[in-house]
Amino acid sequence: MQHKGFTLWLTGMSGAGKSTISDQIMARFREGGAKVELLDGDIVRTNLSQGLGFSREDRDINIRRIGFVAEMLSRNGVIAVVAAISPYRATRDEVKAKIGNFLEVFVDCPVEVLSQRDVKGLYKKALAGEVGNFTGISDPYEPPTNPDVTVRSDRETLDESVGKVWAELLRRGWVEGA
Ligand SMILES: Nc1ncnc2c1ncn2[C@@H]1O[C@H](COP(=O)(O)OP(=O)(O)O)[C@@H](O)[C@H]1O
Ligand SMILES: [Mg+2]
Repeated sequence: MQHKGFTLWLTGMSGAGKSTISDQIMARFREGGAKVELLDGDIVRTNLSQGLGFSREDRDINIRRIGFVAEMLSRNGVIAVVAAISPYRATRDEVKAKIGNFLEVFVDCPVEVLSQRDVKGLYKKALAGEVGNFTGISDPYEPPTNPDVTVRSDRETLDESVGKVWAELLRRGWVEGA
């Protein structure tokens, strides 16, 4: 597999499918021998952003840190896959402008479906008022106005969602020979 350095950024609410889709895409990249790193929000928050909370300010710091690392990787020919809620449009746009080779994937799913899925049991708690600053319930999520790819995880299979992202990477010529 030949590839450019770029950042594949998945944004969406908790449980929408960012990590699941990223893991599949990572497996494909690795099969092809690509140079690739995953920056998953949940993992970043236990190391690079340890100690940060969920205020707007802390969320923005978290996203700028992830963006900083992703930019370094992309600039050096590595693929950076980012799976982070990244709820604020302006902050995503800021990171996008700095990185350049940036594909924004909106992992969309209605909040009703997310609450039913409740992968981590957090929607139940947020709806009961037990978790504050919860994106989509008690904290904002600003959907991208012009995402490069939109996947609807309530209407598509995982394979379909992954296929859409992959097709766009091929179309751009960022990935070849895969
Ligand atoms: N098309 C799809 N894409 C991604 N996930 C899907 C899809 N359809 C159903 N799912 C399910 O939705 C859940 C998404 O959880 P997860 O990837 O942890 O979300 P996030 O990382 O966005 O918080 C998983 O249980 C996954 O199996
Ligand atoms: Mg996740």
